Amino acid sequence: MAVGAGDNYWRDNRLPGILKHRIIRRYLPLYLARTSSKDGRAVYIDGYAGRGFYENGEAGSAGLLMEFALEAQGEYILRLFEKDKTNYEHLNSAAEKFAAEGVNVKCERGDVVDKIENTVTEADGLPLFLFLDPCGVGLPFEMVVNAMNRPAAGEWPPTELLMNFSWEAIRRIGGHVSSPRGSEKTLERLDTALGGDWWREHFLAGTSDEAVEAVVDGFINRLGAATNCSVASLPVRRKPSHKPIYSLVYATRSPRGFWHFADITAKSLEDVRIAHEALAEPGFFSIATPQQDAENAALPDIEKNILSILEKRSEFIVGDFPFLVFGEHIGTVGEKIVRKAIKSLHRQGRTPSTGVGGKTENLKVVRPKR
Ligand SMILES: C[S@@+](CC[C@H](N)C(=O)[O-])C[C@H]1O[C@@H](n2cnc3c(N)ncnc32)[C@H](O)[C@@H]1O
Repeated sequence: MAVGAGDNYWRDNRLPGILKHRIIRRYLPLYLARTSSKDGRAVYIDGYAGRGFYENGEAGSAGLLMEFALEAQGEYILRLFEKDKTNYEHLNSAAEKFAAEGVNVKCERGDVVDKIENTVTEADGLPLFLFLDPCGVGLPFEMVVNAMNRPAAGEWPPTELLMNFSWEAIRRIGGHVSSPRGSEKTLERLDTALGGDWWREHFLAGTSDEAVEAVVDGFINRLGAATNCSVASLPVRRKPSHKPIYSLVYATRSPRGFWHFADITAKSLEDVRIAHEALAEPGFFSIATPQQDAENAALPDIEKNILSILEKRSEFIVGDFPFLVFGEHIGTVGEKIVRKAIKSLHRQGRTPSTGVGGKTENLKVVRPKR
């Protein structure tokens, strides 16, 4: 069985949770502030909200959002769902305090599967961020896709998703495919979450890391195709030598959204690496190298990437092309390296653009006149 979020889970924020919460703390305020600038409102749905706060007072996902909404100027509509009675009671008592101070927050006890459609409909016309953080298998694929493709989805209003996609659940349930005692009911549960039984073939020869990876890749590709989104998967491990326990899967239609998410991911990974060092426990992510090493390795590649874009375009804004600019370094180094790359190219006489001033995402790079 997948390990649930029982009492021990809520004692303090374990290291794998730190990355998730650092990303939420940095990215959600940015997304909500950016998207609500049009009519002052944006909606956040936390489908597996948990208790809101750990016993030591540290905020979980719902707590972070309530704290942000209390401080912020815009009107943020927070909709939280929690199935477990004890967790719900903790969450509700925190939410009541924030609501009394003016935060537009409502939490409901129940299965998010029964609530998601209506809640997404209520967000019609407004920017929406969907956070899905189950302990094991999550929402049916079709429900996730419908939420992302809600009416009028496209340029406006934007819809984004961050979900916890469990490698452990795939590994465990995948074992049922070739086992004589495998449970068809369990297999069907994963079919529903993955949008069909396409994944089963990867486990016909038994469980392997390759099978799990193929299913994670297949899911991401299917989600991207069904929603017309760019989708990123950030594997989270307990230690570098461990297999990932889950991926944080992020989906957006906005290149700028992706740009910010990648920059924030790099910063958050560095925070986690430092937190691990402080505990004398070496980092547990794929990116275990100090940030300086990652940046030194990325700089020449990003310079090359920029020059390749300039072969096709006479000028461009870097924030419009996060994938082409960062290339394989996306999510491992922050945007400041892009500025550094432009400055370096300027010094070499390969662009008249200086890389000076303004926000990095808005930097324009121009091809030199021949
Ligand atoms: C990993 S914890 C959530 C942690 C929280 N998102 C955070 O970051 O602080 C998952 C939570 O989802 C709840 N849960 C599990 N299945 C659910 C369902 N079908 N609907 C709503 N909540 C559910 C569990 O009780 C648990 O509190």
